[in-house]
Amino acid sequence: MSFNTYFDLNDGLKIPAIGYGTWLSDDEEQLEKAIDAALEVGYRHIDGAYVYQNENVIGRVLQKWFSSGKLKREDIFLTTKLPPSGMRPEHVQKFIKESLAALQVDYVDLYLVHVPFGLKYVEGTLYPTSDDGKSDYDANTDHVAIWKAMEELVSLGLTKSIGVSNFNKDQIQRILDNSEIPPCNLQVEHHAYLQQKDLVRFCKENKIVVTAYSPLGSPGLSKLGRETPDLMGHPVVNEIAKKYNKSAAQVLLKHIIQTGIVAIPKSTNPERLRQNIDIFDFSLSDEDLQTMNDLDQNLRILDFKFLFKGIENHPEYPFKELV
Ligand SMILES: NC(=O)c1ccc[n+]([C@@H]2O[C@H](COP(=O)([O-])OP(=O)(O)OC[C@H]3O[C@@H](n4cnc5c(N)ncnc54)[C@H](OP(=O)(O)O)[C@@H]3O)[C@@H](O)[C@H]2O)c1
Repeated sequence: MSFNTYFDLNDGLKIPAIGYGTWLSDDEEQLEKAIDAALEVGYRHIDGAYVYQNENVIGRVLQKWFSSGKLKREDIFLTTKLPPSGMRPEHVQKFIKESLAALQVDYVDLYLVHVPFGLKYVEGTLYPTSDDGKSDYDANTDHVAIWKAMEELVSLGLTKSIGVSNFNKDQIQRILDNSEIPPCNLQVEHHAYLQQKDLVRFCKENKIVVTAYSPLGSPGLSKLGRETPDLMGHPVVNEIAKKYNKSAAQVLLKHIIQTGIVAIPKSTNPERLRQNIDIFDFSLSDEDLQTMNDLDQNLRILDFKFLFKGIENHPEYPFKELV
């Protein structure tokens, strides 16, 4: 079975269309087994982040595969992200170096600015809060200066490519206007209920590949007490799935990649993670693609307000239309 379908990045590199998501995978033993299973079934793209606090597990599994000779470093597309508390130029190298050490690699393939808003840097915590329980943010987040530091990572060989996550159009445009290396990737929430058509069009015009996070609607967020829409239970998605003899998850993912967008579903269940990459043997018809396009409701699940109390008041909070 070959799942090596890639999209071209604007810096000449290639990103595999399906990646393995690792957020909310906090059981080390379970994650270790799951990454093993993911590599066995053909995943070659892993999406991590400093704040997921599990890069050491990814590193351990990769090291095992590299040292046994089953895989070479260059076979894997590895992404990680600058945390919100590292959002100042002097912290960019510190955080990527910590990620590289945990991942046990000399470079990542893609380093993303995780969010456009910065939190204060407080030793020993990733989520500083003030006495009133609100997120202790740093209002002076300077994207242009941070981007310069991101560009330096490329010349130092610490990452091959650089991009952003959760940035809106204006924030991306500011980087485009002030960069030597334009962002090659935007990672944002994207699924049947939030298709972000305007933002995706803007990215295509600017040669920025979009990566869809929470492509299945992030049902695991219920762990954090967050209600999520049941995309995989949607009757229309299930009707289409039946037609192709596929699961609802497979149709949701195929819809994304068939429109030229990378998807990074998370599963620590071996059968489900196998299913999520087994989507290269069918194509949705134009009519079914249109039916999927029509499910869009502009419904955002991850607005960050429940993770960072009061963050909507940060000058760089990206989702102003929802405040
Ligand atoms: N840049 C950012 O700010 C950002 C934000 C959010 C996410 N992300 C990235 O995107 C990745 C994916 O997003 P996500 O984790 O929010 O949500 P998701 O991939 O949409 O959904 C994951 C949830 O769906 C379940 N699931 C997976 N495959 C399934 C299948 N075939 N059938 C039924 N259930 C299935 C998983 O449970 P099991 O594990 O039990 O299968 C898990 O609870 C993250 O892991 C992370 O790497 C990035």
